[in-house]
Amino acid sequence: PIEADWLFVGEAPGSEEDKQGLPFVGRAGQLLNSILFSIELARDKVYITNVLKCRPPQNRDPMGEELSQCEPFLHDQIGRIKPEIIVAMGRFAAQALLKSTASIAELRGRQHEYSELKIPLVVTYHPAYLLRSLLEKKKVWDDLRFAKSLLDGSESEWSV
Ligand code: URA
Repeated sequence: PIEADWLFVGEAPGSEEDKQGLPFVGRAGQLLNSILFSIELARDKVYITNVLKCRPPQNRDPMGEELSQCEPFLHDQIGRIKPEIIVAMGRFAAQALLKSTASIAELRGRQHEYSELKIPLVVTYHPAYLLRSLLEKKKVWDDLRFAKSLLDGSESEWSV
């Protein structure tokens, strides 16, 4: 929904997303659904999108030129949604949104701001990474509780 408070940004559509024309509907999407459920967010109340608007062949990493070509579309999207908080999932989303080359480990654990719009932004791992490293699930949960505390203005119990 365009009036969503939460915006989740992933990397790029995979094959299932490409088929259905919807973001995060494959295996990573199922995990994202359970992550949302665990922090009491309804999927139909949050906005989910990707940095890249087209699927890279064979799911390869996005290339710099692709990222820069899609950037104006993402920026325009964010300006229309005007979310209260952005969650950047994975390295490509985090680096593109923050115009940074830092790693996820360096970017996690604090509040950032997106662009001149100054929208609070939190960085976490990509759900596809969690499918391979389930031990990191707790960190994502911590990151999202931290994001929630920023929205609620409550004290965070966040720790790396
Ligand atoms: N991975 C992403 O980054 N985005 C999707 O939409 C699906 C998988």
